[in-house]
Amino acid sequence: MNTAEKFPIGVFDSGYGGLTVLKEFVETLPEYDFIYLGDNARAPYGNRSFETVYEFTFACVQQLFNMGCRLVVLACNTASAKALRNIQQNDLQNMDAALRVLGVIRPTTEIAGKISITKHIGIFATAGTVVSGSYPIEIKKFYPEVKVFQEACPMWVPLIENNEHSKPGANYFVKQHIDNLLNQSGEIDTIILGCTHYPLLMNKIKQFLPENIQLISQGEIVANSLKDYLMRHPEIENRCSKNSILKFYTTDSTEIFDTHASFFFGKEVQSEFMNSDITF
Ligand code: DGL
Repeated sequence: MNTAEKFPIGVFDSGYGGLTVLKEFVETLPEYDFIYLGDNARAPYGNRSFETVYEFTFACVQQLFNMGCRLVVLACNTASAKALRNIQQNDLQNMDAALRVLGVIRPTTEIAGKISITKHIGIFATAGTVVSGSYPIEIKKFYPEVKVFQEACPMWVPLIENNEHSKPGANYFVKQHIDNLLNQSGEIDTIILGCTHYPLLMNKIKQFLPENIQLISQGEIVANSLKDYLMRHPEIENRCSKNSILKFYTTDSTEIFDTHASFFFGKEVQSEFMNSDITF
């Protein structure tokens, strides 16, 4: 490839959740160009097997590479937990050496360990992320003294995707998971929202969470981490295109995507369709 060619940064999620991360990328790095791809046709990923999440994620990452991206962020915890390592350690080894894929779990854990005073951290995430053990594993690497407690919240993504998350019906499912997590330890002082959908439930969760517990949402943390990454890698940063252009793609109906996406992104979005039957 032409080394002088500039590229947009790819942002991938199973559907809408990654838009809460992209929103912070745009805020923190406004001059950069981004391409967002939501695999809505195959979302949610939360309860799917390792193999399936890896297969879907890698296909979408390749699609973003095909569109010119050289750096892709998996703005999805489930994909970061179940596919990132395989892509980084196996697939990228056989591809153009300039290609990079980053996830959202490591930057989040680096910050959470610093925030917690009691060194007892709770995680709310999809079943897939919880079962992968990625959060406890990553936290242990940086903060071996920290105790990690996890709670899978399988109903939260459907509540959000069906726009039921602010309504009274959501109270039961929110309170139930808060109770389950806090029953595991009375010393938890920091909770990570380990799913990019969950920032939409922030207010509802705060309603039932004791005030002394800090709730960490990932968007800003991951945006600062991307900024830092670009500063530490001038060879990549120099090749990022900077025209403030945002493009959105979905593997399902663009009409449905555009209606829902604005809740997550905070602004109107106009998407284009991309086929999910990606064959290479
Ligand atoms: N937004 C995804 C995450 O961060 C979860 C949504 C899904 O289950 O596909 O884990």
